[in-house]
Amino acid sequence: MEQLKGDDHECGRASSDVVMVKPKPAKGLASKGIDWLECVLVKMMHDSKKPLHYLSGNFGPVDETPPISDLPVIGHLPECLNGEFVRVGPNPKFDGDGMIHGMRIKDGKATYVSRFVKTSKLKQEEYFGGSKFMKVGDLKGMFGLVTVYMQLLRTKLKVLDDTYGHGNANTALIYHNGKLLALNEADKPYAIKVLEDGDLQTIGLLDYDKRLTHSFTAHPKVDPVTGEMFTFGYAFTAPYITYRVISKDGVMQDPVPITIPAPVMMHDFAITDNYAIFMDLPLYFRPKEMVKENKIAFSFDPTKKARFGILPRYAKNELLIRWFELPNCFIFHNEKDWGDRGLPGLSDSCLLDVPALESGVAGVNVDVPMFGESLSVAGALLLTLLITIFPSFFKLKCRRLGLSIAAFSSSGIILGFIVFACFLTISSQLMLSNSCMLSLKKTASALPVLSVIVVLTQYLLQ
Ligand SMILES: [Fe+2]
Repeated sequence: MEQLKGDDHECGRASSDVVMVKPKPAKGLASKGIDWLECVLVKMMHDSKKPLHYLSGNFGPVDETPPISDLPVIGHLPECLNGEFVRVGPNPKFDGDGMIHGMRIKDGKATYVSRFVKTSKLKQEEYFGGSKFMKVGDLKGMFGLVTVYMQLLRTKLKVLDDTYGHGNANTALIYHNGKLLALNEADKPYAIKVLEDGDLQTIGLLDYDKRLTHSFTAHPKVDPVTGEMFTFGYAFTAPYITYRVISKDGVMQDPVPITIPAPVMMHDFAITDNYAIFMDLPLYFRPKEMVKENKIAFSFDPTKKARFGILPRYAKNELLIRWFELPNCFIFHNEKDWGDRGLPGLSDSCLLDVPALESGVAGVNVDVPMFGESLSVAGALLLTLLITIFPSFFKLKCRRLGLSIAAFSSSGIILGFIVFACFLTISSQLMLSNSCMLSLKKTASALPVLSVIVVLTQYLLQ
């Protein structure tokens, strides 16, 4: 297998287009404060009685395995067989960090190895000794919103370094232009080096000489005839889709924006001899519904039609794209894009009537009785308003003293939580009726979440 050539460590690049990943996270008071805040919120919102299936048994996380050579062989391995079979997957399931498993076969012997892809996310979490980045599986209901705020706060206070993205390279591998790439659709590709003894080493992030500035699908297509690679990225802001062509030699062509009406999850696409085919399917990114209806962030709309957009594959813009409607459905993956050479074809796509995303994510189960009774709502809103005043008050003081606004905003949040921790403790000690206790519990549950959202929104918008 051809490996990466050349070193240019002085400019932070392992080769001409591979960026060495050296995030600079920071431990300190801000980090500890956010950890404490998150700990309180998780304790209040997470039902610990519900089992976490995706963290146990066969789905549970496993350690890396350094190369184990001379594995027992049943039968015979031909001497001429020389190479390594590699696959990547999340460890643990769905949201876990990408782990590559390799089986090296050479001189009639077999070696097994498994290594994590050393992403920016993994390096930072190793530095902290625990999980710090939000997970797709946690983006459900009010807890999902809190998770987003925690990540925004950590990034804003430079606890986490998002210079190199925050993907986990856990979805698929592809080989192109002499590079083995580990992919996740929320990030750029990671280049992996396969060593002579079968071991796997993460080289860095591929940005195609800074031309790649958006996410990169986990399912790009390599044309076996021309050697070109075709890819796209999807985003939550217009035009939502960006299509790219990469030459056989690894040169990324200019971006081609593909405009669709709303942000959707677009996991895969298709390439034929002449066309690129995009699937605008009704699995929408709807954060408002996530919070209001306690759903996950991506919501399937059974009332909307699906569409295929067909674009000449070397188009320089989207003017020639033609959209074709089809009945409501969802498609995760396409197969046999090359089956009808010269004709666009998706004959072996897997059509789903309703994508069962919720059964495939590893999030905590949140069952917070938000906004249940009028007493709870009124109490929560009133007390949230009071808590919101704390940081505003401190902001005035801190300007006078020339101190950090951020520190005082955080102190307001922490003070608010102390008040409500006391409130919760006292209420649990009183002999109150069940309905009264339920009402108090709802208020106490809703309040910190609301206060955090209000205060953080103020702070993050500054
Ligand atoms: Fe996939």
